[in-house]
Amino acid sequence: MTTPTEIHFKETDIDAIAALEGRVAVFIAEDGKLDVTARRVNRLMKGALARLAEDEAFEKMKSAETKLLAYPVGMAAEAVVVVKLSRRPSAELARKAGVAIAKLKGKGALHVLGGNIARAEEISFGLALRDYEFDIYRTDSGAPREETRGDVTMMVNKPEDVARDAAPLAAVAEGVFFTRDLVNEPANVLTTDDFAARLAAMQEIGLDVEILEEDELEKLGMRTLLAVGQGSDSPSKVVVMRWNGGEKEEAPFALVGKGVVFDTGGISLKPAGGMEDMTMDMGGAGVVAGVMRALALRKAKTNVVGLVGLVENMPSARAQRPGDVVKSMKGDTVEVINTDAEGRLVLADVLWYAQKRFEPRGMIDLATLTGAIIVGLGHENAGVFANDDDLCKAMLKAAEAEGEGAWRMPMSPAYDKLLKSKIADMRNSCGRGAGSVTAAQFLKRFVKEDMPWIHLDIAGVASTPTETAYAPKGASGWGVMTLSRLMDEV
Ligand code: BES
Ligand code: MN
Ligand code: ZN
Repeated sequence: MTTPTEIHFKETDIDAIAALEGRVAVFIAEDGKLDVTARRVNRLMKGALARLAEDEAFEKMKSAETKLLAYPVGMAAEAVVVVKLSRRPSAELARKAGVAIAKLKGKGALHVLGGNIARAEEISFGLALRDYEFDIYRTDSGAPREETRGDVTMMVNKPEDVARDAAPLAAVAEGVFFTRDLVNEPANVLTTDDFAARLAAMQEIGLDVEILEEDELEKLGMRTLLAVGQGSDSPSKVVVMRWNGGEKEEAPFALVGKGVVFDTGGISLKPAGGMEDMTMDMGGAGVVAGVMRALALRKAKTNVVGLVGLVENMPSARAQRPGDVVKSMKGDTVEVINTDAEGRLVLADVLWYAQKRFEPRGMIDLATLTGAIIVGLGHENAGVFANDDDLCKAMLKAAEAEGEGAWRMPMSPAYDKLLKSKIADMRNSCGRGAGSVTAAQFLKRFVKEDMPWIHLDIAGVASTPTETAYAPKGASGWGVMTLSRLMDEV
């Protein structure tokens, strides 16, 4: 797994600055005044920092933007990264400053001269989040990443305090990286077996992990989930991860994830163009896994159960056909109109199982469920569907605080007529209109009447074609930060 850059916090040592090697980051406040640390760098550089601070170019820089000064005189460092940052930055701005530093980090060591900077822990969080690259399959990148990646140290005036505040954020960053790696892995590596093994390994960090195999799923009656995986040589599984950091009698919150390790569409085969992107169709399960990892690492004081349905949607002689009628664990029957609308079939059984077994106090599912949500919201916002205004508001607030885009979409019984089947209780695909809403309406049938529930359609945000605020292009880890925060509040 890609582990986030470890950031060491050290006491400020002004006299050590001249000899620091690699890159050195230094902050200048918006008014251009230099603090003690910046004044030392300025003196070593024979006044270069002060000249920059007085220049129009500095005035034009926005807060959290950087400028690289290469081969500074008077210093051993190969470059100085100048960061403009307001004296009292918001958490978001501080993270952005960290992101900007990460982009100019270079291959060697990095020393961030924080001094008395506010929100140093958020700066370190942004730095860690952006310093991610999935390059394990490149054979031309020389030495393994761990050996080429330089150390990051932050020199601050109160290193113990900053380290304490940074620790829970570092736990979240590790959860985010876990999700990104899972989403970026190709499907010949991340099979259902491999995925389950990676989840089982989280027992080492204190999670309870249980793997339900096909025979047990059969006994439980999870026919809609099994039908999706029956065309594949990889066995279908449900993995249950439990974190019990709360009161013994407190009902858990349930997180449920779609884990289609590859979605060919099945017999309703997808066109070849872009099909390779369907390695990310386990993104919902990836986020659930990342959140569980973050909760365990930061020892969250709450009870949460994460459940993922792991299947592969393949065409074969054993695959389900369009027109098949399958019975869900709940007992409702589904006419499979399109084998490519498989995510809802997987989630239907896992949602029902989660409620029957754990009687959770609330439930959120995540899924790369529909292409239609990308048409509607692009790659900036996940679609939020909810049956409970309070839970929905709390979720949107957490997403806002973490800078992860989320937009509420409508639900209403008016859409239910589109789910009608000629021969079964419902059909799994219902024409072009409102594709994301009808998918949510389908899921709602497997949520008990009084269960506070949110469905997050993350098809557009799980992996993106261009970089996002905290991630390079590819898997973003969207949702890990939001849900890790939300779990403390619900
Ligand atoms: N996994 C796809 C949705 C998807 C599309 C995710 C693009 C990420 C990027 C899902 O299983 C699917 O195929 N949905 C169909 C549903 C339709 C057949 C009702 C879709 O969106 O076209
Ligand atoms: Mn599909
Ligand atoms: Zn899918």
